[in-house]
Amino acid sequence: MTTKISSAEMAKQNEYMEKVAALNSQREHPPIAHVHSFGCQQNVSDGEKIKGMLAQMGYGFSESPDGADLVLYNTCAVRENAEDRVFGNVGALKKAKKANPDMLIGVCGCMVQQEHITAKMRRSYPNVDIIFGTHVLHTMPQIIYEALTTRKRQISIPECDGVIAEGIPLRRESALKASIPIMYGCNNFCTYCIVPYVRGRERSRDMEDILAECRGLVQNGCKELLLLGQNVNSYGKDQGTNFSELLRRINDIDGEFRISYMTSHPKDATRELVDTIASCEKVTRHFHLPVQSGSNRILKQMNRGYTRERYLELIDYVKEKLPDVALTSDIIVGFPGETYEDFRETVSLIEQVRYDSLFTFIYSPRKGTKAAEMPDPISAEEKGRWFRELLEVQQNIGCSSYKDYIGKTLRVLCEGEGRTDPALLTGKSRQNIIVDFDGDRSLIGSFVDVEITEALAWALRGKLK
Ligand code: SAH
Ligand code: SF4
Ligand code: F3S
Repeated sequence: MTTKISSAEMAKQNEYMEKVAALNSQREHPPIAHVHSFGCQQNVSDGEKIKGMLAQMGYGFSESPDGADLVLYNTCAVRENAEDRVFGNVGALKKAKKANPDMLIGVCGCMVQQEHITAKMRRSYPNVDIIFGTHVLHTMPQIIYEALTTRKRQISIPECDGVIAEGIPLRRESALKASIPIMYGCNNFCTYCIVPYVRGRERSRDMEDILAECRGLVQNGCKELLLLGQNVNSYGKDQGTNFSELLRRINDIDGEFRISYMTSHPKDATRELVDTIASCEKVTRHFHLPVQSGSNRILKQMNRGYTRERYLELIDYVKEKLPDVALTSDIIVGFPGETYEDFRETVSLIEQVRYDSLFTFIYSPRKGTKAAEMPDPISAEEKGRWFRELLEVQQNIGCSSYKDYIGKTLRVLCEGEGRTDPALLTGKSRQNIIVDFDGDRSLIGSFVDVEITEALAWALRGKLK
């Protein structure tokens, strides 16, 4: 059951924001917060809410924790190295806290939603003043107020799940491109993955709330709307609607802008969805379809819900209906019990699909997941070798596929200074490929046509048409 947080509760949090703002206004200088979000776009989007609330409470922001009055790490639990970095960063604040005992240190997000992590923080990180989980983000004003006024440790990780909070103030990272969460949580329980445990069950925002947000953004000059969810293809299941309908409704909003989305689960990507994307001129021609493995045996162990054959059929349909599409994927190397033969099946799938780019990860066991209990006999060195083999295969594919764009004209959203050369301008094509070109800075923020003249390893170059 999805419950929207009541307007009375949101009003209460607004009052806390005002109370903290009043406390902060008595200070000689406005306080400074350093907020860092690790992990996926969903977390970055939560970070925009955190900053929105802090701004309303009178905080300014700094890129570095040095000299900050509040340091808040919005964490990710998806792989071990993401967690190690957080412990490292928190540990490194010891000196700063000694120099400024009034400094507040907070850790929130997916990582602290795990009991063993919170226990470790309680035990071994006395410097941490504030800990709160993913389901109570909207109560951050109250938590900060209590921390400031009582100077006691605040820990809030209630079991509650299935809630959606609307109307949290936002401080967006970019005026040109906006992230819009359309759903939260995940029900898929892929056996390697911690996300369903730390983000709770799948729940969708009301379509009207999403449409109102999109309309407001477009009116304010936003040019790309990125719709976010762990599995956008199951949007609206709990509301009698679906993702295709949402895409059509957003596509109908007036103006030149783009609609992108992340992430599509292959088991739920239907032909109807591909047809909808083909018929919506504002939807990007970039399809991120994480396959994870090319071996049926491993896909089954991962609980992915599709076979290699079904995935390839879907890819064929996407290529047929969207001939100018760029395909990307996520791959896990070294899942428990994976053999070199299984791994070669992944390589052969990659060679068959010819992705534009790949996000590749070495399997990292996550406490509490099914895969963490499976025998995992392959050594880290061996997995490292397979990983490098995969990167090499992909590098050769990526280089050759970009050459196909030479001579073509692409519509590019101009974003700023060149990424390959600061004297140029940079932007992204409808396929989400970086395109650099020569032009006047007044073009930043608008769509332009660029004829591609050169293909680099990870970007294209061209000239204005
Ligand atoms: N919901 C999205 C992705 C979530 S996490 C999806 O289903 O595609 C992003 C990526 O991290 C996953 O696609 C997977 O490739 C990787 N990942 C997740 N858990 C992992 C683990 N335990 N070890 C290594 N990589 C992992
Ligand atoms: Fe994790 Fe699978 Fe859910 Fe993606 S679909 S978030 S990989 S459980
Ligand atoms: Fe990480 Fe949480 Fe996203 S675990 S990948 S930040 S949903």
